[in-house]
Amino acid sequence: MDIELEEQVAADAAASLVEDGMVVGLGTGSTVSHLLRALAHRALAHRALALRCVATSPRTEEAARRLGLAVEPFGTFERLDLAIDGADQITPDGWLVKGGGAAHTREKLVAISAERFVVIADSRKPVPRLHGPIPLELLEFGLSSTLRRLGTVHLRDVPRSPDGGVIADFTGHVGDPAVLAEVLSGTPGVIEHGLFSPAMVTMALVARGTEVETLLFA
Ligand code: A5P
Repeated sequence: MDIELEEQVAADAAASLVEDGMVVGLGTGSTVSHLLRALAHRALAHRALALRCVATSPRTEEAARRLGLAVEPFGTFERLDLAIDGADQITPDGWLVKGGGAAHTREKLVAISAERFVVIADSRKPVPRLHGPIPLELLEFGLSSTLRRLGTVHLRDVPRSPDGGVIADFTGHVGDPAVLAEVLSGTPGVIEHGLFSPAMVTMALVARGTEVETLLFA
């Protein structure tokens, strides 16, 4: 299985959904890096393809700018036409785990603000049911108390998020993701978690070799 090829195949399929004049949310991760190249290529090849983009992380913003894509602050857009991002896990009914790259808070904001949220993935990402770790972003204030209330959580040895949050992973039992999402969202001190519900996800484009499987959700 050639993962890089699959990432590129999925990214190319998503890039073809982008139309002239769209405001596009750009995710974070290795699959998205292929998307950035595909979009830049399309924008150069078809001069009529004028895009405005928002980025879910400083590294995506930097990479997109280097490729000549126009990246603007997210604060100026009420809605995005399309957001495209990778995922760590995808279930058959459209639940996702995201945040392997610690960008899940901004990724969720961008996904929820888009008319269509399209997930791009290689063939390792579909899973029958979600499992841990579930990425978290936590408030520094009261951190020890938050960790005690959450139970099985490991702090990740990575820099803070761009918004100053502490990055961690919930490693307890996942069970029903809807229940866990509610528990995590309802825990004071949790800024955001990496469970994305099917209601946020329009479709997933999963590459298997050079073929793309389209999974439709919301
Ligand atoms: C970033 O925080 C993540 O949500 C990524 O989108 C996810 O981990 C998929 O990344 P890859 O495309 O690198 O596998």
